[in-house]
Amino acid sequence: MKETQVYPSLLSADFGNLQKEIEMINASEADSLHLDVMDGVFVPNITFGAPILQMVSKHITKPMDVHLMIVDPDKFIEGTKEFGIDLMTVHYEACTHIHRTLQKIKAAGMRAGVALNPGTPVCMLRDIIEMIDVVLLMSVNPGFGGQKFIPHSLNKVRELKKMIEESGSHALIEIDGGVNYETGQQLIDAGADILVAGSFVFGSKNPYETIHNLKKLTPAQ
Ligand code: DX5
Ligand code: ZN
Repeated sequence: MKETQVYPSLLSADFGNLQKEIEMINASEADSLHLDVMDGVFVPNITFGAPILQMVSKHITKPMDVHLMIVDPDKFIEGTKEFGIDLMTVHYEACTHIHRTLQKIKAAGMRAGVALNPGTPVCMLRDIIEMIDVVLLMSVNPGFGGQKFIPHSLNKVRELKKMIEESGSHALIEIDGGVNYETGQQLIDAGADILVAGSFVFGSKNPYETIHNLKKLTPAQ
């Protein structure tokens, strides 16, 4: 049986103790570190950009998963390709030429991800699904941590899973927003491969144990 992958989101970490938080991730069972880049235009919040990603890349020993919530993400790809980023995800809604953008990400040596907002249907990916490594389904409206999970996301996971299987694509399904043990189990049952969790991991008493328990979620028989 395939293992659930867990990508903690740095957004909910203590930015006053960033090195300590990164060391926690390094010592944990997390599969990757999820990094949310926000520009205050595509989403109503600003986080960090290339200098912070470069700094994090020097300390993190896990792969980096960069979630770009910015307009015109093409501009960002070239300048970050030296940071050893494993997966770069752009929003479908932010790309006029998504096919070209995915080619650029791959040419820069990274896995390519496409994120969908809660209001964007899964069928928009039909003609590009074979070139996508990871589909990131947003289960909250992007911009902030700690929001409530949108239950309709479960239908989207099931529909996407079907599309992936029918097309023969190797894409993995990653979910971002409102993930906890309860929604995590529902998502894994629906067919998700990767769980992003921000406030649930960094806000917990024992983040190591929370990551461990999320990784142990397997589809109910
Ligand atoms: C929200 C970000 C998420 C965020 C999730 O726009 O993309 O990665 O950190 O936070 P939680 O897990 O608290 O919903
Ligand atoms: Zn994210």
